[in-house]
Amino acid sequence: CMVRHYKFNVVLENTTRLCSSKPIVTVNGRYPGPTLVAREDDTVLVKVVNHVKYNLSIHWHGIRQIRTGWADGPGYITQCPIQPGQNFVYNFTITGQRGTLWWHAHILWLRATVHGAIVILPKRGVPYPFPKPHKEETIILGEWWKSDVEAVINEALKSGMAPNVSDAHTINGHPGPVSSCPTQGGYTLRVKPGKTYMLRIINAALNEELFFKIAGHLLTVVEVDATYVKPFKTETIVITPGQTTNVLLTAHRGAGKYLVAASPFMDAPIVVDNVTATATLHYSGSLTSTATTLTSLPPKNATSVATNFTNALRSLNSKQYPANVPLKIDHSLLFTVGLGINPCPSCVNGSRVVASINNVTFVMPKISLLQAHFFNISGVFTTDFPGNPPVPFNYTSTQLTNFQTKQGTKLYRLAYNSTVQLVLQDTGMITPENHPLHLHGFNFFEVGRGLGNFNPKKDTKKFNLVDPVERNTIGVPSGGWTAIRFRADNPGVWFMHCHLEVHTTWGLKMAFVVDNGNGPNETLLPPPSDLPKC
Ligand code: C2O
Repeated sequence: CMVRHYKFNVVLENTTRLCSSKPIVTVNGRYPGPTLVAREDDTVLVKVVNHVKYNLSIHWHGIRQIRTGWADGPGYITQCPIQPGQNFVYNFTITGQRGTLWWHAHILWLRATVHGAIVILPKRGVPYPFPKPHKEETIILGEWWKSDVEAVINEALKSGMAPNVSDAHTINGHPGPVSSCPTQGGYTLRVKPGKTYMLRIINAALNEELFFKIAGHLLTVVEVDATYVKPFKTETIVITPGQTTNVLLTAHRGAGKYLVAASPFMDAPIVVDNVTATATLHYSGSLTSTATTLTSLPPKNATSVATNFTNALRSLNSKQYPANVPLKIDHSLLFTVGLGINPCPSCVNGSRVVASINNVTFVMPKISLLQAHFFNISGVFTTDFPGNPPVPFNYTSTQLTNFQTKQGTKLYRLAYNSTVQLVLQDTGMITPENHPLHLHGFNFFEVGRGLGNFNPKKDTKKFNLVDPVERNTIGVPSGGWTAIRFRADNPGVWFMHCHLEVHTTWGLKMAFVVDNGNGPNETLLPPPSDLPKC
């Protein structure tokens, strides 16, 4: 294995999309940012230099960070931000993982434009568990606002209401040939007839689950969130913000140009957002016919398409890549996730939208939780996060009046190496909505999912404990629940939050603290000497 060095200069770059320009925050002037390539077992050192006016931190989404929580990146959770003019070296080793992950800014809404792919190749000499593709391509799906993204969320916070939806979705940074600015073109994926390609697809959008489809071609799903799955063919993939999906694409058509599209999946009734991103699949050697074949996309409320896709995902569970699902459970938790309304005298309507887990709206601390934990600084957080909902909600009802959330920086303590079952239940308190929950520091198995209220007696019996999909980000179905299991084998403080950025901002987040009872110094590596100060 080797040590790989990267330098991320975070700089403003004037960028034109949808025929209008604005300065955006970028890494090395690029949007999306550079791809980080490493091999399983490699050590990666990324020197991040902050040349912009914002506080900054970068998260390596899905990297386990075993004993190196200091390099995880969420601002005020594992580190104080890198202040303007300062720098920090993220130093971590990739252990037991190979596949596609990604990196993104993890503070404010900077990840709108500060993100890129992480490609982890298998150890030298270890093949993929599927035929080697002719070539690999990275496909990053995103969102573009014509106005300044920080202004969009700041306005929303002042008003207490939802922020403006984006003006376009993007594929590798471009809204594409079918957009309000077609002359700007878009991303072109060039293929040779008969060859097979692996697409590493990443949903880096801030607030939108997406369908992804290529006209006239089926996709074979082989990996999600850097874990291999049993291959299956599909017309459409569904991908939440935070998730990654590798698919094989065989260029069996021989010639022509085909439309590639990413469109929103949203079964909540309140948001209107129909902007589809497009790109072009172009067979080499075919004389450019101007017309591309149009693909028919699922409507944005096509829940059945999403459910069918999700239900098809299974761990590969081979001899070489076994699914080690915890069978004996130490912590059995039930967390409600959802939105609510709190009073807000200073807001326009006197109230504001909030989000919560078990009715706790998470309050960001002033110094990082991991530092407070490691150095035993009191008064930063409490460890009384409730393991169960405070009152028996009727989870699927649409409104719960006079029910305010609690505010607090509450953590849930897990014994090192204990096993956890966590049921995530959508509350639908304002409206039911999918919530892509992301857990830092761990992969987990999705052992069950369903609609309505989770019923421990009936539903537990139907859990898949053999080959459930393993991942780091999971969509809690609208008006339903999902059950995950993992082993708390990584000491530190680990953030868990909805990967819809607006919901994180509203408070749909919490953290686990994992230690062995002998104090963190025994299990965590010491903090790096250049760790930023608050
Ligand atoms: Cu991809 Cu806490 O985030």
